[in-house]
Amino acid sequence: MTKTPTSNSTSVITLATLRDMKQRGEKFTCLTAYDASFASIMEDAGIEVLLVGDSLGNVIQGHDTTLPVTLADMIYHTQCVNRGRRRALIMADMPFMSDAMPAQAFDNAARLIKEGGAHIVKLEGGEVMAETIRLLSERGIPVCGHLGLLPQSVHKIGGYRIQGRDDQSAEKILADARTLEEAGADLLLLECVPASLAEKIVNTVTVPVIGIGAGASCDAQVLVLYDMLGITPGKRPKFTKDFLKDSASVHDAIVAYVNAVKRGDFPAPEHTFS
Ligand code: KIV
Repeated sequence: MTKTPTSNSTSVITLATLRDMKQRGEKFTCLTAYDASFASIMEDAGIEVLLVGDSLGNVIQGHDTTLPVTLADMIYHTQCVNRGRRRALIMADMPFMSDAMPAQAFDNAARLIKEGGAHIVKLEGGEVMAETIRLLSERGIPVCGHLGLLPQSVHKIGGYRIQGRDDQSAEKILADARTLEEAGADLLLLECVPASLAEKIVNTVTVPVIGIGAGASCDAQVLVLYDMLGITPGKRPKFTKDFLKDSASVHDAIVAYVNAVKRGDFPAPEHTFS
């Protein structure tokens, strides 16, 4: 069995832990989790953040998009993950339109925390979500702002494609990052943006930045579990890597991912947009 990385201490992971890690320049790791068994293996392998992603709409439910996922689905899977969790931080996605209005977002985020057992909620969108983030944050609900490629806006964007490639859209994403931090976001997640833009954001905001397809300078990395186990339905995206291919078990594959992120070896240039 591959050795579990050093972060496998017994202390519970909190937002303060993640902020301290950013300050020390130590990377942390995140994977999507949808059930108790995988959550438990991830814990043993040293993952700090378990993301109950609405990508469950794709990989569990078999939909083409995340749009059909309901709040009840999210609460159910967050409860499942919570039963396998011992020390990791649980982040749960606000599903499509569950956060359309601030008051509605507040009620639904509270349910993810109260009924699901989430420690922080993640919601997609820039400046337009600032009022919601302020409301949640001021009432003690931690929030991660999701910027860059927003899968819930797939029909508006016209497909899953890299964001922030031209100067104007890069400036907008950078400005959104500042706005969300100022509104009270505790974490940011950047999906599919050029590495140079991600680096600028990481160096601009003080909150930890988790990247997926956003290059190696992010404070943390996240992957969809099924992608890093090589069981993606259809074509695996460029920014992912099959860690199970060269590992003896799921546990060892996750340890290999954790070690690669912490060493700064993943994502490599071939997983990165320039
Ligand atoms: O739902 C999810 O899995 C996500 C990741 C793509 C970051 O939000």
